[in-house]
Amino acid sequence: MIKLKTVKETIHQLEEVRKKGKSVGFVPTMGALHEGHLSLIREAKNENDFVVSSIFINPIQFNNKNDLVNYPKDLNKDIDLLLSADTDLLFLPTEEEMYPEPVTEVFDFGGLDEVLEGKFRPGHFKGVAIVVKRLFEIIKPDKAYFGLKDYQQLLIIHRITKNYHLPVEIIPCPTIREDDGLAMSSRNQLLSKQERKQAILLYEVLKMVKIQSGFSSINEVKTHVDRLFRKTKDVKLEYFEIVDMYTLEPLKAWAQSKNVIACVAAWVGNVRLIDNIILFS
Ligand code: PAJ
Repeated sequence: MIKLKTVKETIHQLEEVRKKGKSVGFVPTMGALHEGHLSLIREAKNENDFVVSSIFINPIQFNNKNDLVNYPKDLNKDIDLLLSADTDLLFLPTEEEMYPEPVTEVFDFGGLDEVLEGKFRPGHFKGVAIVVKRLFEIIKPDKAYFGLKDYQQLLIIHRITKNYHLPVEIIPCPTIREDDGLAMSSRNQLLSKQERKQAILLYEVLKMVKIQSGFSSINEVKTHVDRLFRKTKDVKLEYFEIVDMYTLEPLKAWAQSKNVIACVAAWVGNVRLIDNIILFS
């Protein structure tokens, strides 16, 4: 695996790869890798000749300073995992390399950034869009792989790719879960033993909602979810919404949309987790 820290070397290396007619798959990450990330890399490996991954803890997408400071880091372990998945190139830029000048880009997300995560993490998606667009411009991948676990992020990246005519195909990949159903996340390792047990509530609730969808009214489902969260001491619900999969508009009645997803965010102790489930599409 080639490891590169500068934009210049990375652009040069990938020019050489493309000269040989090889297709390039790309998996951007913030490190602290787990099976969720590796599933993206394996998918990229299946569909491309050359696979690039990046590790960059993007400061401008963190709206909460503590979250940035506490974000888990283990580069040696990450490198071992990337090697085990047969990654061809790891791009490891510094902050100066990614942001040589103050950032001024403005994006129009068509309101997709104003709901769900956007409501509670102001500026987050702007930071994500800036870094992903820059990474695409450096790597110039044929295909880039993103997890459905971060569904709103995936939708927003789709939108900027389309609106800026970025020549990359976005490939959505399924959420990988622990044996008990908890969605894998780098932040899970910050949970205490007790919190880890309680964190399962997010997925339990989503599964319950999937069973109830179409039967109980949306209001009844939401009241039930609220009640379940209030019963669990260390888990605080931030939001639970049932929305249209493409506009992210909250639904008042099931018949309002044919493509429906339930999204949840909750604090487990000091750790903020998100998850979602497609109810029907
Ligand atoms: P990060 O949280 O490291 O996630 C990198 C990619 O892995 C994202 O596409 C995310 O959706 C996917 N992923 C995370 N957990 C997953 C799981 N359990 N199953 C499947 N895929 C999973 O998302 C980011 O980094 C950043 O915002 C980034 C896009 C790199 C921009 O900085």
